[in-house]
Amino acid sequence: MIRGYLRLNRLAGMQVIITGGQGFLGQRLAGVILERGLVGPTGEREAVDDLVLVDVVPGSSEQARVRCIEADLSDGAALDSIIDGDDHVSVFHLASMVSAESELEWSRAVATNVGGLVGLIEAARGRQGPTRLVFASSVAVFGGEAISDPVGALTKQTPQSTYGMTKAMGEMLVNDATRQGFLDGRSARLPTVVVRPGRPNAAASSFFSGMFREPLNGERCNVPVSGDVGVVMIGPATATDALVALHDLPTADIGRDRAVPLPGLSVTVAEMIDALREIGGNEAVALLDFENNPAIETVVTGWPAQWDDSLGRDLGLPADSSLIDVVRDHAGLVES
Ligand SMILES: NC(=O)c1ccc[n+]([C@@H]2O[C@H](COP(=O)([O-])OP(=O)(O)OC[C@H]3O[C@@H](n4cnc5c(N)ncnc54)[C@H](O)[C@@H]3O)[C@@H](O)[C@H]2O)c1
Repeated sequence: MIRGYLRLNRLAGMQVIITGGQGFLGQRLAGVILERGLVGPTGEREAVDDLVLVDVVPGSSEQARVRCIEADLSDGAALDSIIDGDDHVSVFHLASMVSAESELEWSRAVATNVGGLVGLIEAARGRQGPTRLVFASSVAVFGGEAISDPVGALTKQTPQSTYGMTKAMGEMLVNDATRQGFLDGRSARLPTVVVRPGRPNAAASSFFSGMFREPLNGERCNVPVSGDVGVVMIGPATATDALVALHDLPTADIGRDRAVPLPGLSVTVAEMIDALREIGGNEAVALLDFENNPAIETVVTGWPAQWDDSLGRDLGLPADSSLIDVVRDHAGLVES
């Protein structure tokens, strides 16, 4: 089912599609792309004249350059009419079910996360024009006994969650579709994005943001894991900048494995509490509760806490300078 504008409304100029365009990173990414443009097929940075936000959730925009299309990406037919024509199109594929809901709803997670990507590849394959695809993968592709410290490009992917399995399959699909020449794909292996604004979501990692966001807003937050639990994280601004930078890289700069780890910060929960204290004082830390949740601890300790991101750094992708700076940015304390 598609609601919104159909292809007849296609505007002239560079076209960009963001799936999951009504989500957290999708909305931020849309703002960055509208402001700065993207490297186009000529290798030059170009303004984006037609930005299409596709999501199962309806959206609207005041901007003439932005179209919002309501579509369920697990419905392959929906994609054919969105990705069509002979022009270059860049797709940021962010639509996904997140970790906790994927664990509970296996069939829907496979249909959305794997089926949605297969549908996108089929749509790209069936058109004349070139497609550049940036797929949002995750640190969750790693886990279990094969996990090394730190995980690196040669670490075997044995994800310990349905969500991680769908992302690992996604990386394989992107590699193969690129090898086949159906599209020019890149998989951004995203660390956990902290601090996510808004309300808690269904991701097992949600508390990593909540433990800053809620206390700095005068609200309580439960920390369901012990202080020595580590996480690889990235700030929201750096995450969206890195997605753009990965898109803009020349095709040949990325090897046959199209997955690139985004540069991250390795921090422990105890260090996060110290950062909260530095920004919000002891009164902010007093708003944290520490009731252990074994289910959440099992999921997050199944992810790597250390990350060899040298490939991403060598490719020039942006990196956060420190956790404190990320939290300052969230709290609006960054000096301009
Ligand atoms: N935020 C993080 O910490 C993080 C970390 C690693 C990877 N990622 C990945 O980055 C991407 C974006 O993450 P986010 O934090 O913005 O997530 P989000 O949940 O805020 O956004 C995802 C969007 O996808 C949409 N969506 C879900 N199912 C859909 C379907 N069947 N058809 C169309 N749209 C659908 C949702 O409505 C939502 O707006 C996701 O692929 C996620 O797996 C995020």
